Amino acid sequence: MAYVLGLDLGTSALKAVLMTEKGEWVAEASSDYPFISEKKGYSEQNPAEWVGALHAVFEVLHQKVSNLKEKLAGISFSGQMHSLVVMDSEMKVVRPAILWNDVRTTEACQFIYRTMPDIREITRNPVLEGFTLPKLVWLTQNEPETWRQAAHFCLPKDYLAYILTGELCTDYSDAAGTLLLDVTKKVYSDEILNAFQIPKQALPKLVSSTTCIGAVTVTMAQKLGIKTDVKVFMGGADNAVAAIGSGITRPGLALSSIGTSGVFLNFESNVLEAGRTPLHFFNHIEDTAFYSMGVTLSAGNSLNWFKREFAPEESFDELFSSASRIPVGALGLLFTPYISGERTPYTDSEIRGAFIGIDGRHTRSHFMRAVLEGITFSLRDTFELLKLAGRDAAEIIAVGGGAKNPLWLQMQADIYNRNVRTLANEQGPGVGAAMIAATGLNYFSSLNECAKLFVTYSDKIYTPNEENALAYEKIYAIYREIYKATKPLSMSLAKL
Ligand code: XUL
Repeated sequence: MAYVLGLDLGTSALKAVLMTEKGEWVAEASSDYPFISEKKGYSEQNPAEWVGALHAVFEVLHQKVSNLKEKLAGISFSGQMHSLVVMDSEMKVVRPAILWNDVRTTEACQFIYRTMPDIREITRNPVLEGFTLPKLVWLTQNEPETWRQAAHFCLPKDYLAYILTGELCTDYSDAAGTLLLDVTKKVYSDEILNAFQIPKQALPKLVSSTTCIGAVTVTMAQKLGIKTDVKVFMGGADNAVAAIGSGITRPGLALSSIGTSGVFLNFESNVLEAGRTPLHFFNHIEDTAFYSMGVTLSAGNSLNWFKREFAPEESFDELFSSASRIPVGALGLLFTPYISGERTPYTDSEIRGAFIGIDGRHTRSHFMRAVLEGITFSLRDTFELLKLAGRDAAEIIAVGGGAKNPLWLQMQADIYNRNVRTLANEQGPGVGAAMIAATGLNYFSSLNECAKLFVTYSDKIYTPNEENALAYEKIYAIYREIYKATKPLSMSLAKL
């Protein structure tokens, strides 16, 4: 049976997932890389690190799988979104990649809105610091020498695909996160390119995620110990690929992903009129589909912060079990998870978190429960924006840290007031990337068909507890007031 390889180029590591063409697990490998932060708000990475990690994961896979060379038929990618790679006319990297979590571009964002106030009608997305266009504008204004040398721009996974094949392309799901794409027409927007003087020939060719962009070059095949007829498929943006790896391939399904940040994502078969809300709306992996999403910047990060600072000696299991003995609403204690600003529903880098309603009866366990509830309320904020835009989800698939504990899963069911399910074997976006390779190789007629073999859900469904859901409804209404009430305080504190 042939093998397919999913490469997930994340922010801190390259993770490889090797599966058979029927979706059976073969092996995994991972290689970490550092990021560079020379100034406050800067976050960069050297693309050479990604290539080093590519070699490292292949070495591990060869150690684990003796027939890798004979069996490997296809490779595809999931990539960190928005991060900008700049190359010269000889395809040499000119400067470190500026990553999606780099926030040096606040002024560039304002400049973009001043220059094109209606840009959102084309991009369908707000102009956010992390996105690619503000990084390009920042370069034109701050690094003229880099700009002079720049001949090609691409996103991280496009660079790795280029290293493997010698072809520079990108897919629609990743291009949507650049703010250079007319998302509904699926072409680069001439209006945007002209307004910011970005040469179209510097941008990668647009292809579908399941397009074969070429075979592995002879040099790379030799270096990696694989055959030259291994086909490379374009792949997509990590959130889109994670969604297909979780089976979000049809309407009615949403994803609640709680990692360091949190993402609430909804499958879309039609264009979403998001108005001026901070909802993101990107092209999905399947050609005619889209997805909408919102991001809670510090989801798991808030929980890690709380444990590190207030309960370093306790295990997560102990903390969860103590929180399970606390009633819904933690006796009137509320938490907002804005410990490093927020993206959705408030695009606000100055807002900071709060505990409201502290009472002499509260113990650390109440605070723990309040943290979990606050993170989940914040993801519900995105769900509410989606509902306002006429969307809904019958079932929510929970992944990441939020899917590991029954208390948090039940809490999600109660707070979203929807059924919540988990995956039987959650392997992250690497599985989605392997699915793209398998579908690209025509082992399946569609990603939906592929998902039937590659994605399995656990049998247990968490259904909302009526009484809890009702209580959360009231508490959530109060939670929503906290942002407005604490905003002026956060602004004053930021000025200190
Ligand atoms: C999405 C976003 C992050 C990155 C992480 O808009 O900024 O989720 O995709 O890689």
